[in-house]
Amino acid sequence: MKREKLLLIPGPTPVHPRIINLLSLPTISHVSPEFVAEFKEALTNLKKAVFTTEGQPFIIAGTGTLAMEIVVLNTVSSENRVLVVSQGYFGQRMKDILTSFGLQGDLIQSKPGEAVTPDELEEKLASNNYTVVISTHVDTATGAAAPIRSYAEICQEYGTMFIVDGVCATGGLEERMDDWHIDVILTAAQKCFGVPPGLAIIVFSPRAMIKRKKMAKIHAYYSDILRWLPVMKDPSQYFSTPCVNEIRAFNEGLRLALEEGMEKRFRRHRQTAQAIRAALQEMGLKLFTREPYWADTLSVVFYPPGIRDEDFRGLLAQNGVVVAGGLGEMKGKVFRMGHMGNLSHSQVMFALEALEKTLAALGYKLNKGQATKRAEEVFNLKIN
Ligand SMILES: Cc1ncc(COP(=O)(O)O)c(C=O)c1O
Repeated sequence: MKREKLLLIPGPTPVHPRIINLLSLPTISHVSPEFVAEFKEALTNLKKAVFTTEGQPFIIAGTGTLAMEIVVLNTVSSENRVLVVSQGYFGQRMKDILTSFGLQGDLIQSKPGEAVTPDELEEKLASNNYTVVISTHVDTATGAAAPIRSYAEICQEYGTMFIVDGVCATGGLEERMDDWHIDVILTAAQKCFGVPPGLAIIVFSPRAMIKRKKMAKIHAYYSDILRWLPVMKDPSQYFSTPCVNEIRAFNEGLRLALEEGMEKRFRRHRQTAQAIRAALQEMGLKLFTREPYWADTLSVVFYPPGIRDEDFRGLLAQNGVVVAGGLGEMKGKVFRMGHMGNLSHSQVMFALEALEKTLAALGYKLNKGQATKRAEEVFNLKIN
């Protein structure tokens, strides 16, 4: 049998054998007591993963982009002014979604490889009348993580609804929905939860639910959360056939996260990111993202002079590891390495060895074995 390649793109991420095993089970009826119990458990587990006691979760067939669209349609009305806080690529997508529905959105864009600062956000809120702020937590193109806790505090101060796109963060980086006063978190299955793509995942706070109910009619059918609400309250109800196998797999992803413990899981993501970045720097590689904006879920790395994108990624894949190229303007200049989900220590070490081997084969000068040694040193540290 051909050996699987280690998938280290920034999502989808490697799928744990427990999840793979569940995906091989036959499909069962979406209204069977067995599935209804599983769906209920997934909804409860999702709330635990984002530290919410009162929030209303939605698990709907789709992807992160559908989650973005659902959130826009169910929170923003034509009289609202929205500020999109962008750390790169996906903020622009959010703005495009607003524009597609004829809604007004301004965009505040960070410097490349950085995040918008809390002061910059505060300045915008002080001089405008925004009712909704939407921010990407981690931008998957630039590897920059935004200080969403500080954003949430500022939004609370200004009475502004605060929405987080956690597609590249939720389940790997802390997002305390209730404690931090986040109104809506949207995400997807295929990143930090390590489940194959196929789900749009959203949690609405009570305040966001009230707002949706006040909006009454919206221009959506499948994307109208009020049509889904009875199903999320009682999964034996029918609105549109839920994707049985994927929801079962997602629940297993949530179980894995909760068994590990969310605090421990965040710490593992932090330590893995630190070990990988230390190894990359030991190899003499430069990171695109500026410290302190480094995300714990992916690294964006400049190619050294003389190393071509296709050659590098092609040979690395032959050596067993798949990473992604740059997005947008960064195409050909950087590679993006995901390090989120259920990635093990041995998978990280295998990837680093493959990176060293690939760079050396392409004529790049490095001391083989030094980077992996450096990563081990970081893995051996006790971190908070
Ligand atoms: C931050 C962010 N938001 C939204 C999306 C869109 O998600 P999807 O590709 O699942 O539609 C992505 C995808 O990578 C993302 O990283």
